Amino acid sequence: MKVLLIGATGNLGIRLVAALLTHGHSVVAFVRSSKKLESLLPASVFHQIAVVQGDATDAVLIKRAILDAGCDAVVNAAGLAAMAPWGKSELPAIFHAVVNAVREAGMERKKPLRAWFLAGLGVLYYPGSESMLSDYIPIYLEHRQNLYLLRSLPPDALDWSVLCPSTMTPESSDISVPTENSCGQLIANATTPPLWQDSWMKHIPLIGKTLLCAMNAGRYETTLEQNADFVASDLESYESRWSGTTVGVIDGSK
Ligand SMILES: NC(=O)c1ccc[n+]([C@@H]2O[C@H](COP(=O)([O-])OP(=O)(O)OC[C@H]3O[C@@H](n4cnc5c(N)ncnc54)[C@H](OP(=O)(O)O)[C@@H]3O)[C@@H](O)[C@H]2O)c1
Ligand SMILES: *[C@@H]1O[C@H](CO)[C@@H](O)[C@H](O)[C@H]1NC(C)=O
Repeated sequence: MKVLLIGATGNLGIRLVAALLTHGHSVVAFVRSSKKLESLLPASVFHQIAVVQGDATDAVLIKRAILDAGCDAVVNAAGLAAMAPWGKSELPAIFHAVVNAVREAGMERKKPLRAWFLAGLGVLYYPGSESMLSDYIPIYLEHRQNLYLLRSLPPDALDWSVLCPSTMTPESSDISVPTENSCGQLIANATTPPLWQDSWMKHIPLIGKTLLCAMNAGRYETTLEQNADFVASDLESYESRWSGTTVGVIDGSK
């Protein structure tokens, strides 16, 4: 597919460039600074992509980038959620602009686009309930309002998925195409974290489920490369089993 990658200069963004190219996609990178992107990528990789400069809160510009390049899909890796419950980042404004742009571009080309967004582990449901993990450990709460925005859209507005990783660490600082990841593929599950470990501790009054979330949280650390490969691989087909849902991931090899 032809993919507009917003936030290509970020930790995940630069790895998405390499993963998307490896999976045979054409990449249009939407970044604030083309110079910065050029400095982060080997010349051989930078020369394989198109670049559009702009701010990710600018919905008009994003929509024009999608339509001008004829993109079929959008991946948003721009913005970084504030950790503290009272913290504020630009992510909600970016998310809003990207959603509007993708939606309007879909209407104009008369076919909804496929779009991947990023959130965190906290917006997944505690297994067997409809409480989010962030009800028990209230951090990175900005992802919740982003998800509510997607869920409020009419079903045919855009074909979205939200990847919900816990902490992502780098495997390597080398960006190369094709990618040579040292870790295996992720195990994924819709709406709840895959392979959740249950324990009697959940029955401890008041703090039981919070304890269990804290115990489990460390198990969901994955690598940036694994997540980039997961998204790039999903975009190989127009039909995705992750359409319209949050997606939890775990490194099954650990
Ligand atoms: N890293 C993790 O462990 C982790 C875990 C769970 C979820 N996530 C989520 O995953 C996403 C990506 O994380 P990351 O670690 O790759 O973040 P990052 O390294 O901080 O990258 C953020 C990217 O957003 C871009 N950006 C910020 N504001 C922008 C704006 N107004 N217009 C255009 N671009 C803008 C930055 O561009 P500049 O280079 O121009 O500043 C940068 O490319 C975030 O939403 C984060 O909340 C991350
Ligand atoms: C995926 O989620 C469903 C529903 O919450 C659950 O029943 C199933 O066990 C999960 N699968 C994995 C691999 O965790």
